[in-house]
Amino acid sequence: MTSSSAFSALLLLLASPLMSNPLVIAHRGASGYLPEHTLPAYAYAYATGADYIEPDLVLTRDGQFICLHDIHLEATTNVAETFPDRGREDGRYYAIDFDLAEIKSLQAHERLPSRFPKAKSTFEIPTFEEMIELIQGLNASTGNVDTSVVGIYPELKQPAWHRAQGQPMEKAFLALVKRYGYTGSDAPIFVQAFELEPLVHMRELGSQLPQIFLLSDTADAQDHLSTAGLAAIAKVAQGIGPSKTLIRKDKNLVQRAHAANLAVHPYTFRADAVGPGYEDIEAELRSFYFDIGVDGLFTDFPDRARAVLDARTDSER
Ligand code: G3P
Ligand code: CA
Repeated sequence: MTSSSAFSALLLLLASPLMSNPLVIAHRGASGYLPEHTLPAYAYAYATGADYIEPDLVLTRDGQFICLHDIHLEATTNVAETFPDRGREDGRYYAIDFDLAEIKSLQAHERLPSRFPKAKSTFEIPTFEEMIELIQGLNASTGNVDTSVVGIYPELKQPAWHRAQGQPMEKAFLALVKRYGYTGSDAPIFVQAFELEPLVHMRELGSQLPQIFLLSDTADAQDHLSTAGLAAIAKVAQGIGPSKTLIRKDKNLVQRAHAANLAVHPYTFRADAVGPGYEDIEAELRSFYFDIGVDGLFTDFPDRARAVLDARTDSER
């Protein structure tokens, strides 16, 4: 590298929010402690040091974005007891078959029985707008709005499926986040999807928001992760969100993604489901942050990731 290109690379690194301090991304909120995708889980994630907080998004029948991991409701709510006749032929209860008022009448609960007990306290499914207003409210009340704003990291769930149901997500999503001030390439938001086409479409609609393409360990992942595939992703995205398995399988993936000017934010780091070969979540987090060199990671336990980053030594920086 010539001295001028090295200087350019340094400037790029310093100017990019994607590749400087590694990020703590609260996966479904602080879902290790409170039911996933509830306002308390988002608030706890905020309080325990997340840089970004993740809502997964699906649409209701009346076109409202709600925070929910699945397009179905039964894994995390009492929909089957509340609306026993509203399942489809496959026995599933689809959020898109319910109006927001009906969704709001449901009790939400944690998905995993080993976590927050199902019969304790009461929770509801938040709208995306409620989630944004909570985070922006906390940014104001904590004073972070003047220093280090906590961002949002929304995932559009199954955009192709929503489109086939007559409810395309992209345009409505961009209009909503614009109303809350998320515009431009430096907005405190990452927009993520497992489908590349919606990310392309949002660029065509004029969005400059930071975008992340998610990848799971499926047959087509290797095409996307080839040199040509990464270059194609980099035309519309600032980074990739691979499963940990993909990184385990390809030790050079992070380096190759960085060479394509893509940040790497793997998922998901869990104290109660530590990856193979690691003694505990701290060992796993240290390995991914400091040895593998990821730019951020999704975790159900944002407090643990924050503590690992706060305790890093000079040689780990
Ligand atoms: O969006 C990153 C990660 O959350 C993807 O997995 O299934 O938890 O949405 P999932
Ligand atoms: Ca997600």
